[in-house]
Amino acid sequence: MKHGSEVTLSYPDFHWPAGTQVAVTGPSGTGKTTLLNVLSGLLRPLSGRMQYGARELTTLTEADRDAFRRREVGYVFQDFHLMPGLSALENVELGLRVAGVPNAGRTAREALERLDLGARLRHLPAQLSTGERQRVAIARACAHRPGLLLVDEPTAHLDRERADGALRLLREVAGELGATLVIVTHDETVAQMLPQRFQIGRSA
Ligand SMILES: Nc1ncnc2c1ncn2[C@@H]1O[C@H](COP(=O)(O)OP(=O)(O)OP(=O)(O)O)[C@@H](O)[C@H]1O
Ligand SMILES: [Mg+2]
Repeated sequence: MKHGSEVTLSYPDFHWPAGTQVAVTGPSGTGKTTLLNVLSGLLRPLSGRMQYGARELTTLTEADRDAFRRREVGYVFQDFHLMPGLSALENVELGLRVAGVPNAGRTAREALERLDLGARLRHLPAQLSTGERQRVAIARACAHRPGLLLVDEPTAHLDRERADGALRLLREVAGELGATLVIVTHDETVAQMLPQRFQIGRSA
């Protein structure tokens, strides 16, 4: 993977069977977020292959990778990327509409209720606590039932207790969906709560 002419990143080969739950760890700047962007189809590697089930993603057009991402991938960004002008419900609904899911309103409401946000549906992101915003982001990432759930630093903004809660929640939701869960984390406690680890090093 190349960012401009300056930074070239490479990753070891790996195979994660469907339903794998894995922590991606490594020092800052080693390419953890970039790996999530490649896995989601946001970025295309210069060389190498990325296969999802029987599908080869690296040869898809950008439009097909976008379609793949909308349908198959849930991505919880580190800073959540919620739309500030939309309520919790509208944020989740928008993602579902983009993914072409029918009954977006009802499905969005159910996803938020599942994450204990039934009383916060009409709140804007700025009116929510950080933990609540994170749960909206998780609801948005999961509501279309993705097969691949990517999460960047889920516990960065949270205290220990909430961090553990967020991780349990992600594992539970991924387990229910049968989704593969990839969590980038600096937090050793979080990494140890996951059954598998993918360590990225300076020379990787
Ligand atoms: N869009 C970009 N253009 C140029 N360089 C980039 C771009 N995105 C990332 N990089 C560089 O690629 C390297 C890996 O970045 P990445 O964000 O994947 O690291 P990271 O492991 O997620 O780090 P952190 O733990 O700090 O979040 C860094 O050296 C970064 O400066
Ligand atoms: Mg990062």
